[in-house]
Amino acid sequence: MSERRERFDVLVVGGGPIGLACAWTALRRGLSVCVLERDKVGSGASDVAAGMLAPVGEASWGEESLLELNLASHALWPAFAEELRDASGMDPGYSRSGALHVALDRDETEELRRQHELHREHDLESEWLTASACRELEPGLAPRLAGGVFVPHEGAADPRALVASLAAAVRVGGGSIEEGVEVVRADTGPPCSVRTADGRERSAEHLVLATGCHSGQTEWLDPGERPRVRPVKGEIVTLRERGGERVCSRIVVGDRLYMVPRPDGRLLVGATVEEKGFDTTVTAGGVHELLRESYRTLPETAEMELVEIRAGLRPGTPDNAPILGWGPGAVVFATGHFRNGILLAPATADAVAALVSGEAPAIDLRPFSPGRFAGTPAVAAAPGPGGSG
Ligand code: GLY
Repeated sequence: MSERRERFDVLVVGGGPIGLACAWTALRRGLSVCVLERDKVGSGASDVAAGMLAPVGEASWGEESLLELNLASHALWPAFAEELRDASGMDPGYSRSGALHVALDRDETEELRRQHELHREHDLESEWLTASACRELEPGLAPRLAGGVFVPHEGAADPRALVASLAAAVRVGGGSIEEGVEVVRADTGPPCSVRTADGRERSAEHLVLATGCHSGQTEWLDPGERPRVRPVKGEIVTLRERGGERVCSRIVVGDRLYMVPRPDGRLLVGATVEEKGFDTTVTAGGVHELLRESYRTLPETAEMELVEIRAGLRPGTPDNAPILGWGPGAVVFATGHFRNGILLAPATADAVAALVSGEAPAIDLRPFSPGRFAGTPAVAAAPGPGGSG
């Protein structure tokens, strides 16, 4: 008996926040969608990430197109979170507490002034504050503070809650999610077909590649067709308040770390930036650096409970910007989100859903085209500083 071939409008390979957001947005356009995840949904970078929504904090000189995309996606977040909550009945943990970037010595002050200059050049909302004004916002800051920059509209989503609500929304919307299913072969179409390790065949008008740091190794694409994505390791520590005492109520960013408070009393302290391939070992040096810097910035963190230490792999690209747009055949790439995967989920999903619907995306995807690295080395850009977002 010949096996039944399952057909969909869109097959999404990768069940992280990007793949799930693309799936949910395509479903809302009336397309039939199946997500194939080789492990469990949300088992990649998002399981480790702090979930900062920080287009201003992440702004870097020379990355104007990325800044524009980050700002566009940031503007989509309030409606995205609300609609997701309505669709799934689950809270994606979205909040806008503001982010306070602080400098503790002269070198850090100079660097922060440079950052603030960049903000002003691009008309971004950020305000230079004296040390005492910083301490009025966050009384737990170290006494030796030199000054700071307050970015009022930045915030965070809880990546694990986001994945849970996206997965629920996909299922409620009639999409299917298959976990523990690895794509071993694909015809990139059109139309596309895939074979999974369990021997099943599925076909679709379009394939969306959203496998994060693994996308650069996609076996079912020819080597020359694979997106230029590499893993960039980040170690992150989770602390928890004791006795109801908050060490901060906003996101606090230092020169070499960021600290993201959650409503349940956890404080995520991240993150190192390391070129170590697919190694996810938590190291004494990485954890030491994060704990030393958190103590230096917010001394009361020393009294908090240490609840979790993890290392995750960001999907890095040669220019730190994502890879969005048409790959070979009818494949759409939605990968390489590096430090901004949670922030960029809504804009990525809108763009991908437009492409697979045969429409022009609302954002200009040319700066993010998969073909832009033709003829350039696979790994070019130095990683950004650990503390900038
Ligand atoms: N978005 C912060 C990080 O990648 O560490």
